[in-house]
Amino acid sequence: MIRTCCFATLIRILAFWTYAHFKSQGWRLRPRVSSHSPPFLNSSIAGQGMERSQVINFGAGPSVLPQNVLEEAARGLLNYKGTGIGITEISHRGKEFQQLTNDLASQVRTLLEIPSTHEILFTQGGGTGQFSAVVLNLLARYYLLNPNTQPGDICIDYVVTGSWSKKASEEARRLAPGVKQNIAADARKFSKDGKSFDNIPPHESFTFSPPEKTAFVYYCENETVDGVQFSVDPESPTSFPYSKIGNNINPPLVADYSSSFLSRPIPNLAAHALIYAGAQKNVGPAGLTIIIVRKDVIVDVDAARLLGAVATPVTMSYKALADHNSTYNTPPMFPMYVSHLVLDGILNNGGLQKLGETNRSKQEKLYRAIAALEEDGIANLNVKAGSRSWMNVTFTFNNPELEKKFLDGADEQGLKSLKGHRYEFVFPCEVFC
Ligand SMILES: Cc1ncc(COP(=O)(O)O)c(C=O)c1O
Repeated sequence: MIRTCCFATLIRILAFWTYAHFKSQGWRLRPRVSSHSPPFLNSSIAGQGMERSQVINFGAGPSVLPQNVLEEAARGLLNYKGTGIGITEISHRGKEFQQLTNDLASQVRTLLEIPSTHEILFTQGGGTGQFSAVVLNLLARYYLLNPNTQPGDICIDYVVTGSWSKKASEEARRLAPGVKQNIAADARKFSKDGKSFDNIPPHESFTFSPPEKTAFVYYCENETVDGVQFSVDPESPTSFPYSKIGNNINPPLVADYSSSFLSRPIPNLAAHALIYAGAQKNVGPAGLTIIIVRKDVIVDVDAARLLGAVATPVTMSYKALADHNSTYNTPPMFPMYVSHLVLDGILNNGGLQKLGETNRSKQEKLYRAIAALEEDGIANLNVKAGSRSWMNVTFTFNNPELEKKFLDGADEQGLKSLKGHRYEFVFPCEVFC
């Protein structure tokens, strides 16, 4: 009885707050299929499958997009801003698309209060593409600043708090074999079993290489799979230990914000040399990667090559992107257009401060509901208090039958894609951002 009641409470919270969030954002939960809407906006053919309005999609990314954005985007696919040409058919070098690129950059700048020291770039290749681009561009920068360097004299520091930062560190090892990689902190050492990612390590355990020898320091702000996130509160022991790193310029600090981008303000943004995010979690369709890069990191990768740096593919060169207003080659035009519409919605609904507060209260409610299951011996939260993600809430049922019951109950209510990992439920609150 208690179990059934706890499940029902959890499912009710998920369903209710999804509705409440969309309502508070002024974004409709139900599709607007009026006599003015083209017939293709009707999301299913009668009798075939589910209606969009019957489903709440918890997919961690690609994630759900607001209904009104999709409707507007569908119109733009046919006719972009009265040009008579669809957004995927216009030239990326034409004035309409250049305007869209500038508008999108200025929306990102406004929302995150990005200082003029940093540029905003758009490209393809996703978060994984940036695992490589970061290494190539930042090693090139190091060679330009230290012309007589040998690879063995260079350090790159990775903070490993989950699967994504681990993957990024492995890519760096592949691309920079002679360079010394230092794992500046490893969360597994502080975990319950010595091998899981369930915490942000204590500040005193972070050991960075000497600043003058370090090409960059890398961390992932929100570990999507593991549900581990740095605290937004600078006083918290699980915040990022900015004060332990060099002088704000060297070594350059790099952060993967793929799964928390635009879910709340970014603390200490100006201390970062580079922040990147794939769009498909919070911002728009897959295909777009957003890069916020400090100007001194935009370097001539070919000049660095003459000094010993490995060659950087031109599509990964931040300079090539910056010199061509993100249109060195054809950018992901449709994802950029949809992202522009999503950001319009965030700006018109109180910006990131308000969204951050909404997300704070949503995750508090959800963790409280799961903690009640924990007290009843039904489920366990995977991540230690203080290190828990606002975006991806991971927990495990103690019994496979209960897991099935929960998933079936959620499914009946139209709550989909809750099971994001073989052993864990990943609740990506980000779908509502
Ligand atoms: C934190 C984080 N970084 C990087 C990636 C990789 O992104 P992509 O699939 O765009 O390459 C993901 C994907 O889920 C992610 O969650």
